[in-house]
Amino acid sequence: MIRVEGLTKVFQDKKRGAVRALDQVSFEVKPGEIVGILGPNGAGKTTALRLLATVLKPTQGTAVVAGYDIVREPEMVRSRIGFLSGDMGLYGRLTPREILAFFGRLSGMEPAALKRRSDEVVSMLGMAAYADTRTDKLSTGMRQRAAIGRTIVHDPPVLILDEPSYGLDVPTARLIENFILEARRGGKCILFSTHVMEEAEYLCDRIVVIHEGKVRITGTMEDLRAATGKTRLREIFLDLLNIREEPMEAKA
Ligand SMILES: Nc1ncnc2c1ncn2[C@@H]1O[C@H](COP(=O)(O)OP(=O)(O)OP(=O)(O)O)[C@@H](O)[C@H]1O
Ligand SMILES: [Mg+2]
Repeated sequence: MIRVEGLTKVFQDKKRGAVRALDQVSFEVKPGEIVGILGPNGAGKTTALRLLATVLKPTQGTAVVAGYDIVREPEMVRSRIGFLSGDMGLYGRLTPREILAFFGRLSGMEPAALKRRSDEVVSMLGMAAYADTRTDKLSTGMRQRAAIGRTIVHDPPVLILDEPSYGLDVPTARLIENFILEARRGGKCILFSTHVMEEAEYLCDRIVVIHEGKVRITGTMEDLRAATGKTRLREIFLDLLNIREEPMEAKA
């Protein structure tokens, strides 16, 4: 569903010069699979997800998402993904329900189907109490739910979620986790980034650790345990960042 091949992004920054945010990154996400991208601040996670969502163009390399090339067929990719970007991008003057309607129409949904789906999403994300309140009057977690709702309203086969649990309380984070598991049962492919190790452990079929734009390791929790000799993801993660000098590949 997602095949990333040698993806490289170099930003030209006025002050810093050339910033190699992503360097020859390759990995795969299969249908019905949840893959988590982990990495410290500035590792390149958001850049990778934005490239896959066709918001940015790669400097080198490419990826195929839902059967389409991100460089040559970005519109096709865009219509088949739900992308949750870190900055939410909500229109403050719209209510969650209006946002769902807006994005549903944008992706060509019929009014009746859109109404049904919108009700479903509102109830699924527990937004009933504030679905008709302007988003600029909502709390961080409420806004994040609206942003997630917007991402999934058209029921895309591929979900690309940048820190979906950011700003969420524990019950809501669990609700989102369960939603992601449910999406996997429906055969969707989910790629997400997170700083919450428990969440990655709970959700991921496989994990990609990136550091300074490079893939450090990809594999299942078992692969990561075998490679580091540690048990908990938190320890594995620290171990990979501090000790390993060479990129490694662990395949299930
Ligand atoms: N538009 C841009 N122009 C210049 N540099 C950029 C731009 N976007 C990102 N970068 C740089 O690319 C690198 C990777 O940033 P990115 O946002 O992908 O990291 P991240 O892994 O998502 O970090 P975080 O955990 O803090 O969200 C950083 O050095 C960042 O400053
Ligand atoms: Mg980020």
